[in-house]
Amino acid sequence: CGIVGYVGGQSALDVVVAGLKRLEYRGYDSAGVAVLSDGGLAAAKRAGKLVNLDKELAERPLPGGSVGIGHTRWATHGGPTDANAHPHLDNAGRVAVVHNGIIENFAVLREELAGRGHDLTSETDTEVVAHLLAEEFSSTGDLAESMRLVCRRLDGAFTLVAVHADQPDTVVGARRNSPLVVGVGEGENFLASDVSAFIAHTRSAIELGQDQVVELTREGVTVTGFDGTPADVRAYHVDWDASAAEKGGYDHFMLKEIAEQPKAVADTLLGRIDASGRLTLDEVRIPDTVLREADKIVVVACGTAFHAGLIAKYAIEHWTRIPCEVELASEFRYRDPILGPRTLVIAISQSGETMDTLMALRHAREQGAKVLAVCNTNGSTIPRESDAVLYTHAGPEVAVASTKAFLTQLVACYLLALHLGQVRGTQWGDEVLAVVRELARIGEEVERVLETMEPVRALARSLAHKDTVLFLGRHVGHPVALEGALKLKELAYMHAEGFAAGELKHGPIALIEEDLPVVVVVPSPEGRSVLHDKIVSNIQEIRARGARTIVIAEEGDEAVVPYADHLVRIPATPTLLQPLVATVPLQVFACELATARGNEVDQPRNLAKSVTVE
Ligand code: G6P
Repeated sequence: CGIVGYVGGQSALDVVVAGLKRLEYRGYDSAGVAVLSDGGLAAAKRAGKLVNLDKELAERPLPGGSVGIGHTRWATHGGPTDANAHPHLDNAGRVAVVHNGIIENFAVLREELAGRGHDLTSETDTEVVAHLLAEEFSSTGDLAESMRLVCRRLDGAFTLVAVHADQPDTVVGARRNSPLVVGVGEGENFLASDVSAFIAHTRSAIELGQDQVVELTREGVTVTGFDGTPADVRAYHVDWDASAAEKGGYDHFMLKEIAEQPKAVADTLLGRIDASGRLTLDEVRIPDTVLREADKIVVVACGTAFHAGLIAKYAIEHWTRIPCEVELASEFRYRDPILGPRTLVIAISQSGETMDTLMALRHAREQGAKVLAVCNTNGSTIPRESDAVLYTHAGPEVAVASTKAFLTQLVACYLLALHLGQVRGTQWGDEVLAVVRELARIGEEVERVLETMEPVRALARSLAHKDTVLFLGRHVGHPVALEGALKLKELAYMHAEGFAAGELKHGPIALIEEDLPVVVVVPSPEGRSVLHDKIVSNIQEIRARGARTIVIAEEGDEAVVPYADHLVRIPATPTLLQPLVATVPLQVFACELATARGNEVDQPRNLAKSVTVE
């Protein structure tokens, strides 16, 4: 979910609604706002996207005020209805609260409140907080103190932001295991799930720590622990460009983000390769001794980041000779994994807020493992809770389906694997230099791929009526196939599956039927020619059974030509780096298919960009 709070000289409603627009990628099942005005509190909320709330506000305007809160929801407890939308109010309509996360003991609290005569009307876990705050406020007369008292009674994960009509100059927020950032302005202050909601107003931000409550007035920001102890806070400068979060002329953020990939890749390399072409990863603040002694690497991640992890495994094992496992973060801690001080865990996350990944890394650290985050969001929870972080510099990624963040995750993982190889002595100067040189020019190769995408778009449009598309790959092409299939599921809502091409004969080949589109990611014919030959056989096997083959192969690879119904050329790259160019046509393909099918590209149904519940 996305949360915004504002206190200052501007119209709170305008600031809050504009902030929610920036946060809509975090969830868009429903949206709502509350403003304090003339000693009272006014709220509006609507199921569905923010436009529904906009319409409601146009038809029934709220009174003006300079203190307000807002919410855009990704439903957990209770379906996406008007009643379940946030803010939630107490029975007197004096308190309004918005919430991100899950309050695990809400059923008990709800029963207690009902027993004391409260009338709870929604199916949400959030509503209990409004009622509890109202009770506490009636004895303390102070919203921040009431919030501290209430938070101490809550189990689970939550960001809460609340206002009370009897303290009309204040917004209060609280945070446990869920993100909340303060924007510090002049004569105005902001609260939001992330900085994109307020960078149009201020670049000065404060990250709230775990179990902290923040009180915001026009003049100041006060942060304490849940027990009331004053907390030290430090503001940092946000260097994201406000316009970077706009569409910049493209129809969809996803298109813009696909086009930004050459720059994202280059930015992620920036400052990490010195003038002599050597790799310098000083920011990996894990002592070399620890890196040298590591006997196992475990990558944890979700969704697209998980696919980056699958590719990282090939690079890590090849360049460092350390065994590497890759695990879905949501499965990791529940199987009692074997971890210890010699395990290095790599947590990959674009947002830095994915709860499954956060919980996996916490589990790893509890077991004594060192955790290194690969993350795109400065100051987010995952890097803050890790021993070290390697930031990807993709800039803000707004479209729910990840594109540029994925490519930069790959770059960061390659750099990391080379760095580990260097520290451990399994890679020597010249080899590292050679790969680094290849990486340095890969942005241009991505650019070249982007310039040749029109036939891919035309092909996608011609397949809009299909029900199923399969994806095949070998070696690093296998995770690329998985990512291609995921993109299609997310965006086109089509049945899409990725397989290891060699596994085809053990089952999936039964799916092949006349004119079924099958995308095949072909490894480079150079070096690993056995692998290449095998996949050429696989293409023939499926074609013989009627498949329509869409072959993604390197320039100059002539062996595939007789068996390709559609041929997509990508530049020749070293095998391990091929995913950086091979993924791009699959992103374009999925985006165009989604458009052809009339789907919403940036905000696919049922999904959210940052999933902060387990
Ligand atoms: C969500 C998004 C995916 C993303 C995954 C992991 O499910 O819809 O696109 O890959 O979370 O997100 P993260 O921010 O941890 O990389």
